[in-house]
Amino acid sequence: MNVVVLASGEGSNFEALVRGAKNYTVTSLISDKANCGAVRRAKALSIRSIILQDNLLGLIKQESPDLVALAGFMRILKPNIVDEFCCINIHPSLLPKYPGLDTHKRALSAGEHEHGCTVHLVDHGVDTGPKIAQSKLTVKNDDTEDSLRARVKELEHTLFPWVLNNLSLGEISIERDISPPKICYSAGLRSEANSKGFIL
Ligand code: GRF
Repeated sequence: MNVVVLASGEGSNFEALVRGAKNYTVTSLISDKANCGAVRRAKALSIRSIILQDNLLGLIKQESPDLVALAGFMRILKPNIVDEFCCINIHPSLLPKYPGLDTHKRALSAGEHEHGCTVHLVDHGVDTGPKIAQSKLTVKNDDTEDSLRARVKELEHTLFPWVLNNLSLGEISIERDISPPKICYSAGLRSEANSKGFIL
């Protein structure tokens, strides 16, 4: 399975996807920020990076990936991209709680006892597509926005490659030709997820 990663920021998830690739290949990075951490990491990891000018659909088409992975890409994908390609995103909250920005701050203000991250299929909304897998942690009394962000990122770095490896193996499958799309899991995967503390 060939994967193109889209990222705009620090790129820690991009790097985790590259390092965690057992059954898929990250063929390239597309970024809308020429000087971001993701582009620097791509160089260090010898992954080709492409800087987005204006035609994202055209760029993705050139790469003809089996899957597009959004790892902190700070733009909303147009419906024509989402319709043509299987796009999955990692979001730093237990969706459907806290779609959008400032998730850690909002979770702390709300006094949440649990927080985490979600890998989901991208649909035409913002952080609304069907959930594929989640990983959660217990919020500590002394957690700050920064400590929570760092702890959630640790979860992200394990969850995201695990989902991609299992999509590539067919242990997770996505039926995109029905509405709403359906996420299916092999019989054995639920117990593996359970042992890792992931929620399917
Ligand atoms: C992550 O928290 C991810 O969940 C969100 O954007 C952040 C990207 O972080 N979509 P990084 O650039 O991968 O370090």
